[in-house]
Amino acid sequence: TKPKVFITRNLPTNLSILQQFADVEVWLERQPPAYEVLLSKVRGIDGLLCLLTDKIDEQLIETATNLRVISQMAVGYDNIDVGAATARKIPVGNTPGVLTDATADLTWALLMASARRIVEADKFTHALRWQTWEPDLLLGADITGATLGIIGFGRIGQAVARRASGFDMKIIYTSTKCCDKELEKKLNAEFVSFETLLEESDFVTIHTPLTNDTYHLFGKTQFELMKRSAIFINTARGSIVNQEELYNALVNKQIAGAAIDVTDPEPIKSDSPLLSLNNLVIAPHIGSASYKTRQKMADMAIENLISGLKGEQLPYRVNV
Ligand code: GLV
Ligand code: GLV
Repeated sequence: TKPKVFITRNLPTNLSILQQFADVEVWLERQPPAYEVLLSKVRGIDGLLCLLTDKIDEQLIETATNLRVISQMAVGYDNIDVGAATARKIPVGNTPGVLTDATADLTWALLMASARRIVEADKFTHALRWQTWEPDLLLGADITGATLGIIGFGRIGQAVARRASGFDMKIIYTSTKCCDKELEKKLNAEFVSFETLLEESDFVTIHTPLTNDTYHLFGKTQFELMKRSAIFINTARGSIVNQEELYNALVNKQIAGAAIDVTDPEPIKSDSPLLSLNNLVIAPHIGSASYKTRQKMADMAIENLISGLKGEQLPYRVNV
């Protein structure tokens, strides 16, 4: 009999290769399965293909007594208790690399949108408020020549540095790893302390995974160290930033603006004060959302899933 697979959402790719040797059930609703539903779905399955909206905790992993592979369609996997999976020798796969450029592109789009107030400008025009050319209409920040501070210098952080090279920016970064001199030379980037980065940057952008160490990395103290003219970008994970302190920093003009693709919680709540700010651009977690990228992510997740079902090492794995 074929192994059983559950896929937690409709994927933007063809499942026929997978269907050749697995019984595949796909959750077709727009909203993810509720936790209790997911618990009942994983009983008896051999393989799980999940998304960052699915909470894969110890209880769920214990419930799935036949589970042999967890394949996540995302590079980040903070929604998965990898320790609990490893304890059962269940490999966990992710989709690194294929979304690096799309995410760096979106980061750059947010940086430029925030600096030059594109969203405000668009609303202004659509509201028919454009009366004349004005010397002081919608003035923003210069990008060219500014200092860019990159927090986390992995694939995505480096791809953001490459984009900055066309804008004559000074690039500084912090990272848990220091320092690859050749890489620094190639990307024209300089390692500095977290504090120095906050003090010197005109743009601060986050590219670290969410871990115990990066949870609430940004709070009151960090925003206070930043320039009042600085712009803050987050395309990583919402809870790296204390949301209330982000709001305070923006409403008190402690920093000039921000643009974020991630919030805590997701989706943002209808009563979040962040929604009232016009110096904040908010995108609904679309960093990797290009047609080609999402298809590559889905295909990679399927490749991982099939390898796991065959008992082979996953090509893109985060644990065993
Ligand atoms: C998206 O946020 C991802 O981790 O792939
Ligand atoms: C994510 O892919 C990273 O390494 O930055």
